Amino acid sequence: MAKGFVFATPVVVLILLLLFYAELCRASTIGVCYGRNADDLPTPDKVAQLVQLHKIKYLRIYDSNIQVLKAFANTGVELMIGIPNSDLLPFSQFQANADTWLKNSILPYYPATKITYITVGAEITENPSNVSALVIPAMQNVHTALKKAGLHKKIKVSSTHSLRVLSRSFPPSAGAFDPKYAFFLKPMLEFLAENESPFMVDIYPYYAYRDSPTNVSLDYALFQSSSEVIDPNTGLLYTSMFDAQIDALYFALMALNFRTIKIMVTETGWPSKGSPKETAATPDNAQTYNSNLIRHVINDTGTPGKPGEELDVYIFSLFNENRKPGLESERNWGLFYPDQTSVYSLDFSGRGAVDITQANITSSNGTWCIASSTASELDLQNALDWACGPGNVDCSAIQPSQACYQPDTLLSHASYAFNSYYQQTGATDVACSFGGTGVKTNKNPSYDNCLYMTFGSNTSAANNVTASPSSSSSIEFNITAWISGCLVVVFLSLF
Ligand SMILES: *[C@@H]1O[C@H](CO)[C@@H](O)[C@H](O)[C@H]1NC(C)=O
Ligand SMILES: *[C@@H]1O[C@H](CO)[C@@H](O)[C@H](O)[C@H]1NC(C)=O
Ligand SMILES: *[C@@H]1O[C@H](CO)[C@@H](O)[C@H](O)[C@H]1NC(C)=O
Ligand SMILES: *[C@@H]1O[C@H](CO)[C@@H](O)[C@H](O)[C@H]1NC(C)=O
Ligand SMILES: *[C@@H]1O[C@H](CO)[C@@H](O)[C@H](O)[C@H]1NC(C)=O
Ligand SMILES: *[C@@H]1O[C@H](CO)[C@@H](O)[C@H](O)[C@H]1NC(C)=O
Ligand SMILES: *[C@@H]1O[C@H](CO)[C@@H](O)[C@H](O)[C@H]1NC(C)=O
Ligand SMILES: *[C@@H]1O[C@H](CO)[C@@H](O)[C@H](O)[C@H]1NC(C)=O
Repeated sequence: MAKGFVFATPVVVLILLLLFYAELCRASTIGVCYGRNADDLPTPDKVAQLVQLHKIKYLRIYDSNIQVLKAFANTGVELMIGIPNSDLLPFSQFQANADTWLKNSILPYYPATKITYITVGAEITENPSNVSALVIPAMQNVHTALKKAGLHKKIKVSSTHSLRVLSRSFPPSAGAFDPKYAFFLKPMLEFLAENESPFMVDIYPYYAYRDSPTNVSLDYALFQSSSEVIDPNTGLLYTSMFDAQIDALYFALMALNFRTIKIMVTETGWPSKGSPKETAATPDNAQTYNSNLIRHVINDTGTPGKPGEELDVYIFSLFNENRKPGLESERNWGLFYPDQTSVYSLDFSGRGAVDITQANITSSNGTWCIASSTASELDLQNALDWACGPGNVDCSAIQPSQACYQPDTLLSHASYAFNSYYQQTGATDVACSFGGTGVKTNKNPSYDNCLYMTFGSNTSAANNVTASPSSSSSIEFNITAWISGCLVVVFLSLF
């Protein structure tokens, strides 16, 4: 082995290095769905705080609500937004409708609000009115609108599906799309392959178990089966229904020769409460399902059919939603109650049992101090100089090339310094005066790798992308830092 390297040309070494790091850098992600079918949820601003406090980096919403888009500006949270089924008609009819929507409803908030996916239609096969003929033209028009704005590589267009698009899902190797959907699935798969967009699917082992408890074991649905289910065609062993369902999709895609399309799970989860007949809907089972799911996904374990394959998964749902119709369980899929307390503890890092109830939004003061946008340049400069000098604030993060240098404005630099001073000195009102140029906010001003100090975290966290801005939070998404670290290495090894 070592001998081989001696004779290898630098170029070969470089390629090997690149391949090695490319392999290392792939990482699965966990996001959460923010459904709003309820009349008692916190305002989007509060939700943005909650999401950041728990280090949730990926969020799916079902529309393009302006309040939500605004609330997530400069939070670093990546949003998947949606065009509801009821809006497909205008989007499918005229290119101009898609262009106008993009221009008026999305671009004003982008890129301050990070948007990475647009779902055009959701589970159209489950929709009572038949909208399946509209979805492809609507997707194409949205894609064309993005292309005109030069954003089609940054914002991917797809559509979500129920697993019922498959006519067969067991054994996984026999997975096949239902031929009655071929008329829209075939052009859709071509679109996804061409634009490198993922196939989006909502996967619910809970329903499979509830509807067929004699055939499906609870342990198999909850990722804790001690026995294995064998696929007789491939010999692959399955210990979870989740994996079996994902592989059924991969095999269905392969059967149609779509080998490059990735799968993304846009909803999965487990309800914590149900009607008396829904005996499996308990906090314990919900916690078990979601904890095991996170551990399984974060590990980049992949599935038996695609070992090591990265998989991005969104947990349904952020809140219990009291206005959802149907059985009791429908209103109890949330990780949080509307008052922002946790329904059960969940460790997003996949490393062990930690109680997220300790990290509830009220346990942090939730106030930050920033510079007033109406203050004069002179006053701001004086206050900034004071904070970084006599005020004893560590201002290294706002120096060139450091995490908080960009945007390179007085307002931004002063905000960072004011907040550090405010937090270090006990977060009292008087600590945010700065001669009238400081204002308090309950919105966390952190963005990208620039982490604003919170009360009790008296460290210069901004210099350290892996450091957590809030000491009380235990849900850690380490993945972003890891990916950016990888990219730097790849970049360096190019030279
Ligand atoms: C839905 O519409 C498509 C195209 O208009 C048609 O081919 C299909 O049969 C319809 N499905 C149902 C269930 O009506
Ligand atoms: C259990 O599986 C058998 C055979 O696969 C099937 O005939 C039966 O309908 C299933 N039972 C339920 C409750 O789904
Ligand atoms: C995750 O990976 C670790 C080590 O890489 C391993 O010990 C653990 O069993 C894995 N967990 C699962 C659920 O695969
Ligand atoms: C969480 O918030 C609730 C109020 O919403 C509060 O009663 C509880 O003490 C908080 N828990 C912790 C650990 O701070
Ligand atoms: C923040 O909390 C600390 C201690 O819990 C308290 O002393 C301080 O007054 C609080 N600040 C604000 C603005 O509520
Ligand atoms: C925060 O740290 C600074 C120096 O790093 C120290 O002077 C200050 O007393 C600390 N504040 C608190 C509240 O611990
Ligand atoms: C930076 O991160 C490392 C580990 O990633 C940690 O040991 C160190 O204490 C952190 N430094 C600060 C200032 O948070
Ligand atoms: C990030 O992950 C590394 C190892 O992967 C670990 O040592 C470190 O403690 C983690 N940091 C945080 C903040 O989770």
